[in-house]
Amino acid sequence: MADLSKLAEPGSPEELLVRRIDFGRLPRHVAIIMDGNGRWAKSRGLPRVEGHRAGVASVRETVETAARLGLEVLTLYAFSVENWKRPRFEVWTLMNLLKEYVRREREALAENDIRFNVLGRWEELDPSVVRELRATVEATRHCRGLSFNIALNYSGRCEIVDACRRIVADWAAGKRADIDEETIGRYLYTSGQADPDLLVRTSGELRVSNFLLWQIAYAEIWVTGTLWPDFRRRDLFEAILDFQQRERRYGGIQQPDPAEDVFASGRLPG
Ligand code: FPP
Repeated sequence: MADLSKLAEPGSPEELLVRRIDFGRLPRHVAIIMDGNGRWAKSRGLPRVEGHRAGVASVRETVETAARLGLEVLTLYAFSVENWKRPRFEVWTLMNLLKEYVRREREALAENDIRFNVLGRWEELDPSVVRELRATVEATRHCRGLSFNIALNYSGRCEIVDACRRIVADWAAGKRADIDEETIGRYLYTSGQADPDLLVRTSGELRVSNFLLWQIAYAEIWVTGTLWPDFRRRDLFEAILDFQQRERRYGGIQQPDPAEDVFASGRLPG
């Protein structure tokens, strides 16, 4: 059970929300498409990159809250393969923010038992970024609390292509596995992790943007109009509360009515 005093100030609006959360039915994996940094900055007459800078505080608060809630996995979509199309200065700033973030947070992540992972073709990034990312992955490898994934130079389609390539390479090396859902899951970047139960998108856009395409097959989707730099722990609590109202059926139905089952009753039509 999470320590509520670490999640919200007594008497605060956040406390009212957190008290309604059923800790026995938390989503195991929450994935977030962080969107709206540019609009947040523009609405204040600031350059777009200031939105990204402000978004780092939301990242920090979300990671801390996810860990305190006791979630198993949190995945944040930070940079897609398609984001290279942005102006060079914006990409450069994003890479620097990332580098700074992982360097500064490394110790705190390890101390809080948070295991840091990177999803995507991140080893193709600038060597100075790769170095900082790798150092943080290494420093938290032993951690057993929250698994915190950052998707970087990521695309859901590329992830499936990479999985297929690795399966074929293993076949060529004599390690043959059946091609089925379990095998493909094992070759994805998220191998060994639960699929997202809850996919959150900020800034009101109704798209999945090439994010975790295989893994979100049965995720519940929650979209908020809040722009990412304004996203705070109360938003995560609201997302979880909404998730807990959903009826998850995975293609089945909740309570089959025996009277409608003509096969069981022997009343076959015709
Ligand atoms: C989308 O907003 C956001 C991004 C492409 C980058 C997200 C990056 C951060 C929050 C900062 C650095 C991250 C970490 C993990 C330290 P947008 O620019 O597409 O917004 P817009 O749709 O309003 O233009």
